[in-house]
Amino acid sequence: MRKPLKIVKMREATRCVLAGEADYTAFNSINVPIFQNSAFEYNDMEEWIDVSLYRKPGDIYSRTTNPTVRAFEEKSAILEGAEDATACSSGMAAINNTLMCLLRPGDTAVAIKDSYGATYLHFAEILPGFGIKTKICETTDHEAIERSIKEGCKLVYLESPTNPTLKIVDIKRIAAAAKKAGALTVVDNTFATPINQNPLSLGADLVIHSATKFLGGHNDVVGGVVCGSAELIWKIFLWRNLCGGCLDANSAYLMMRGMKTLHLRIKQQNESAMHIAEFLQEHPKVTEVLYPGLTGHPGHDIASSQMRGFGGMLSFAIKGEFDALHRFLPLLKIIHKAANLGQVNSIAGPPATTSHVECTPEERAAAGIPETLIRLSVGVEDTQDLIDELKSALDHYDR
Ligand SMILES: Cc1ncc(COP(=O)(O)O)c(C=O)c1O
Repeated sequence: MRKPLKIVKMREATRCVLAGEADYTAFNSINVPIFQNSAFEYNDMEEWIDVSLYRKPGDIYSRTTNPTVRAFEEKSAILEGAEDATACSSGMAAINNTLMCLLRPGDTAVAIKDSYGATYLHFAEILPGFGIKTKICETTDHEAIERSIKEGCKLVYLESPTNPTLKIVDIKRIAAAAKKAGALTVVDNTFATPINQNPLSLGADLVIHSATKFLGGHNDVVGGVVCGSAELIWKIFLWRNLCGGCLDANSAYLMMRGMKTLHLRIKQQNESAMHIAEFLQEHPKVTEVLYPGLTGHPGHDIASSQMRGFGGMLSFAIKGEFDALHRFLPLLKIIHKAANLGQVNSIAGPPATTSHVECTPEERAAAGIPETLIRLSVGVEDTQDLIDELKSALDHYDR
């Protein structure tokens, strides 16, 4: 038995700062301490047995539970409006644990084509290798996804907006179809963040974050979290405990510190990304801008109905061939060139070295990812400085 979550009736900004922490402070500390312990001691054998057998809340061993990690889990759950959450060592550990825990040989899972590269490879290779059938559908073809669900499936896996193509899936519509077919809907909400979108309120059963991204937000920690009903999270927690992909206390502390400013960062990132997308779409050396906040984006109406902000992620393609990126990217000085996103620093990179590094050029082409696409994660720097830098690099790179 884990300590049940308290329903915290606070507004969003207060939740970001405080939620989930109160039960885990010690010695009058304001912050939850980093409980740097692999094991916890019991003098009372009865209590030790009860906690070990989950009959009583408490901590035995940090692969199973740890107070700092538990505070991070509670904060994540409260921000997503979930009954509970379980933390994992990375976003991929959260995804892998969820899929392997819920699916068995002979089951069918329906997924979208544009999911994050390593997630896509789970559906294309890893799950089929374990005898799980997968149907990978065209991301925005809602009829095709509904048809596949109707044919029978156990789980539907979505991402919206997608990485790096910023496609939008109507979560409410697909979750309703899944529910009708008796299937669970899992949504990777990494790009949107709980500030901009809450998939559980749209009918999803589980929400996953690569907490490495916006939740942590300071480029100093890797982790993941799954949020949902107490019943499903309990199953996934037990599975994760057996398989070992736990989050450590230091990482949980850094995640929570980042989450205290999540609402402020996201507000700035939403605004800045919108201005940058508008600037980019007017530049003559930009061939395509993918940002759901733009009225011309094919998913704009759905995004407007299910998101409270369009997010800090956008992608754009520049004129030229793949080697044009070799000349364009080094011209960026404020914007980092790296394989991460959702941080206070702006970060740019092509899918070939970021989201789809595990995929072959053929797989990227099949996923409809142009080779000169650049994924831009907008940080919290001054918007005009970012626009000035992008303008100068676009004006001067030799295509
Ligand atoms: C949308 C999305 N989901 C999952 C992941 C995997 O997360 P992690 O790198 O923390 O394992 C990523 C990583 O980039 C991502 O962008």
